[in-house]
Amino acid sequence: MAERIEVLLTEEEVDKRIQEIGDQISRDYAGKQVHLVCVLKGGSFFMCELAKRITVPVSLDFMSVSSYGGDTKSSGVVRIVKDLDEPLQDKHVLVVEDIVDSGRTLSYLLDMLRDRGPKDVRLCTLLDKPDRRVVDVKVDYTGFEIPDKFVVGYGLDYDQKYRNLPYIGVVNFD
Ligand code: IMP
Ligand code: MG
Repeated sequence: MAERIEVLLTEEEVDKRIQEIGDQISRDYAGKQVHLVCVLKGGSFFMCELAKRITVPVSLDFMSVSSYGGDTKSSGVVRIVKDLDEPLQDKHVLVVEDIVDSGRTLSYLLDMLRDRGPKDVRLCTLLDKPDRRVVDVKVDYTGFEIPDKFVVGYGLDYDQKYRNLPYIGVVNFD
């Protein structure tokens, strides 16, 4: 079945917002080094664009997680597929995500990262679907709040496709 992609946020809108968030982060972390933790694969496009716009010193690391299937999935317990390369001890950690949906994955992930002894852990997401939230997650930086629609582009996929779209689109299955 062919799906149709309808533009929700243009490339220009997304770029402009990432610049604003980058400016905000640069102000908030003045005099510090920020350690960006990217959750693969979806967060990678956003993280690269964001990192380029942050003016304080930046270091980067990547991790990949997947939800456990079956019963445990609803608990949000995640399996680490690829762990971070470096310890988080004494770092100012900023987790960079593509989207916060139910909040289950991130809630679990943030607790796990906080146990590794960082100075602080904050969360930055390009998109937020607040209507879908099941677990309370504090988001420190949000690009856009969006309605409960399935979106692709800028790292987000449908069946591993469309991650490379330079804009955010809604998938229509009609
Ligand atoms: P949750 O917040 O634990 O429910 O999981 C969020 C994850 O679900 C994201 O990191 C995405 O991988 C995926 N996801 C949620 N909503 C969408 C969407 O609209 N498009 C593509 N992926 C999505
Ligand atoms: Mg994700």
